[in-house]
Amino acid sequence: RRSIYLSRHGESQFNVEGKIGGDSLLSPRGEQYAKALPALITDNIGDAPLTVWTSTLRRTIQTAADLPYPKLTWKSLDELDAGVCDGMTYEEIEQAYPDDFANRDDDKFNYRYRGGESYRDVVVRLEPVIMELERQENILIVGHQAILRCLYAYFHNLPQADLPYIKIPLHTVIKLTPKAYGCDEERYALGI
Ligand code: F6P
Repeated sequence: RRSIYLSRHGESQFNVEGKIGGDSLLSPRGEQYAKALPALITDNIGDAPLTVWTSTLRRTIQTAADLPYPKLTWKSLDELDAGVCDGMTYEEIEQAYPDDFANRDDDKFNYRYRGGESYRDVVVRLEPVIMELERQENILIVGHQAILRCLYAYFHNLPQADLPYIKIPLHTVIKLTPKAYGCDEERYALGI
């Protein structure tokens, strides 16, 4: 059976600083993850074929750089667009836009950043990615937190209200193997 592997990019400089969005490069820990990822994947998949999908953002491309497989970049896999809040910390957002901050807390799935996106918007823009995923064999997606929450919720059929809170930790590969109803799941944490 074919599998879909999901991984966030390695820890980025913005992750370290607590800033959202942006297009930063990996931190030293993130670089270690990028170095360790190829062995984890090749050990797991053996000599079966695999294609790696990344976003167009540098942190996913950098994380996938050493993977010995064909790669494709998808604009549709870019992180949820935080609009005017891009590059800010959550504390800065709460200061600058207190009403927005509260509204997001009230309905995180539907809240749309000013000049940006909601989780609902991301679910819609991922439709072509999901259609293609359904037709493909083994795929590894090196992606972003909000994006992987949407894909994970799709494959496990989780409700929209829970989707924005799904835990997708850094430096962990989630392996989903679709079956007749739902998916089997394994997780491999690299402890970096
Ligand atoms: O902090 C990393 C990050 O991927 C941000 O770029 C993004 O805005 C955020 O996580 C999404 O998580 P949440 O919807 O919980 O704020």
